[in-house]
Amino acid sequence: MDKLLSLFENADPFKTWWPAIAALVFGLVIIVRTLMSGQRCPNDNQIRDQIVVVTGANSGIGLEIAKALAARGGRIVLACRNMAAAERAARVIKRELECQRLHPTHSIAASDAKYFVEARYLDLRSFESVHRFARRITGEFERIDVLINNAGIIFGPLGARTIDGYELHLQVNYLSHFLLTQLLLPHLQRSPSGGRVVNVTAHAHAAAKIDFDDPLNVGTWAVNFHARDAFAHSKLAVLLATRWLARQMKGTPLTVNCCTPGLVRGTGHLRRYFVL
Ligand SMILES: NC(=O)c1ccc[n+]([C@@H]2O[C@H](COP(=O)([O-])OP(=O)(O)OC[C@H]3O[C@@H](n4cnc5c(N)ncnc54)[C@H](OP(=O)(O)O)[C@@H]3O)[C@@H](O)[C@H]2O)c1
Repeated sequence: MDKLLSLFENADPFKTWWPAIAALVFGLVIIVRTLMSGQRCPNDNQIRDQIVVVTGANSGIGLEIAKALAARGGRIVLACRNMAAAERAARVIKRELECQRLHPTHSIAASDAKYFVEARYLDLRSFESVHRFARRITGEFERIDVLINNAGIIFGPLGARTIDGYELHLQVNYLSHFLLTQLLLPHLQRSPSGGRVVNVTAHAHAAAKIDFDDPLNVGTWAVNFHARDAFAHSKLAVLLATRWLARQMKGTPLTVNCCTPGLVRGTGHLRRYFVL
């Protein structure tokens, strides 16, 4: 031990570049982690009794969106393929909000709140599942106020196709959400607040290359795709479809937006690939 301590005492940090390089890398990791941890939403708006559908809400960003909107008084439907995880998420959200209400750290909707957070089955790999989900939801609720198309996959199996014959990233991230939006549109338009669609996309769209001879990527190109390209392609499709629908809805009270969350640490999306 004494030998080790004297080694540190006598070490000359300027003799080699390694300590400086290690400190630089460490500093960069800290900066990126800090930036990725995000900020708290600055406004305190309430959405009392608004019906909000969030896809992929059993984990990651979707779970946080669902919790934040339930805290503001929304009635939240978690649209998920893993029902056990979704029901667990609903219980966790309600329990955490109840705890925050009893020991308030920041503003929570009404003090007599009973939180409505419920799970419904939706598998975006199948159009049939999207139709079934839409039928159930439109039968259950007379209107939908907000649809948040959040679910997504990244780095899925290369060249994989869905049961409907589409490239996996494209169907899960884009096509099924597009279909879901169209099916729920009449219900969204019944919202007294005008209705709102939010599509979650990603900066990766900037790297996408869409072959406009085969925009749905059903040709042979998909086979040669790297999963990263397939993800970027699907997110560019989300962005373009958002712009298209926003133009279609111009002059109506329905708002259509997309957003990119930036890099978010600790979700399933990037956890497997980055130490951050
Ligand atoms: N994290 C980031 O840094 C980042 C950056 C840019 C964009 N985004 C976007 O943000 C959104 C949320 O991502 P996240 O980071 O929260 O990732 P996540 O933790 O992996 O969450 C993705 C969610 O989508 C669900 N999902 C996947 N395939 C589905 C399917 N076939 N049917 C229904 N649900 C399905 C997942 O359900 P299971 O648990 O059943 O898999 C999960 O709930 C995604 O659209 C993603 O592209 C994230």
